[in-house]
Amino acid sequence: MVSKTIYILAIESSCDDTSAAVLCNDEVLSNVVATQKIHEEFGGVVPELASRAHQKNIVPVVHRALTIANIDKKQLSAIAFTRGPGLMGSLLVGTSFAKSLSLGLNIPLIEVNHMQAHILAHFIRDDKTESPKFPFLAMTISGGHTQIVLVHDYFNMEILGETLDDAVGEAFDKSAKLLGLPYPGGPLIDKNAQFGNPMALPFPKPKVDGLNFSFSGLKTSILYFIQKETKKNPDFIQENLKDICASIQYTIIEILMAKLRKAAKQTGVTQIAIGGGVSANSGIRKALKEGENKYGWTTFIPKFEYCTDNAAMIGIVGYFKYIQGRFAEYDVAVKARYQI
Ligand code: KG4
Ligand code: ZN
Repeated sequence: MVSKTIYILAIESSCDDTSAAVLCNDEVLSNVVATQKIHEEFGGVVPELASRAHQKNIVPVVHRALTIANIDKKQLSAIAFTRGPGLMGSLLVGTSFAKSLSLGLNIPLIEVNHMQAHILAHFIRDDKTESPKFPFLAMTISGGHTQIVLVHDYFNMEILGETLDDAVGEAFDKSAKLLGLPYPGGPLIDKNAQFGNPMALPFPKPKVDGLNFSFSGLKTSILYFIQKETKKNPDFIQENLKDICASIQYTIIEILMAKLRKAAKQTGVTQIAIGGGVSANSGIRKALKEGENKYGWTTFIPKFEYCTDNAAMIGIVGYFKYIQGRFAEYDVAVKARYQI
């Protein structure tokens, strides 16, 4: 057991957020995120533009994280970085930066799996939120991921199910695009859904075996439905936006919850933790609360800034790896696909 104070500088650059954080043991001293606005006009992340923006952002973001934490880089114990999964060009920026800084400061380098980080974000010490106890079920839901994982221990995780096509955030965003809403449309669907009837339009739910998910069929059925209705009435979307959003949201949440209930039943695990940007959704939050009463679940959602892509979650994994002496070699290469 290491008793000294450990300062980790963590870097996350797997998709379109450039982020740096400083942790003192399991506490976050700073967590800076530069979100790339450039992708909005394209209606989705453009990989080439993402890597360029990371190049521009990385030094100022790291500098700011150190300044806010009031830590000199000479005090750092190690550098943690996201090795994957993610966009190759984006990962390369953070990885190369982390390697150089670790070499320059002569301190260890720690590679982190982004999906493990979304799950271990639950262990960031925070006075307000409690951490789940092992074993627990973790459902990571974001624009890039949809996964249910059985977490036996910090580094012993088992994927029970994942999406076979689109991620759930993509399903929200692509549906929003069909309705003419700006990117990313997930939060706007949620906002409009508050005032609509979730039963107004019954969209089909996919039949997928086991605990895997599929969202591409839903997108297609929404597309055909909208095309058919706007042919009859060009104002159909404007006149029914709230009901359409409520129905889309209801269908997506039902797809997620059906698999989560199945996973809980199959494993007998009642500690349920969610993470990723879609955990901001009011429908999923309500459904989880209902699960507490109906199925005796204990549910966990980290602070929102630790749900979306952020470096603090990379830092907490860095801390756990540091105390176990799990360091990376300098020839470590990024992995666009990287299983937990
Ligand atoms: O984790 P995140 O910030 O980035 C990654 O995808 O890695 O997640 C962003 C996703 C987007 O698809 C966005 O539309 C969705 O999370 N999102 C929501 C809500 N807030 C964010 N989807 C539905 N309801 C929300 N309230
Ligand atoms: Zn993520």
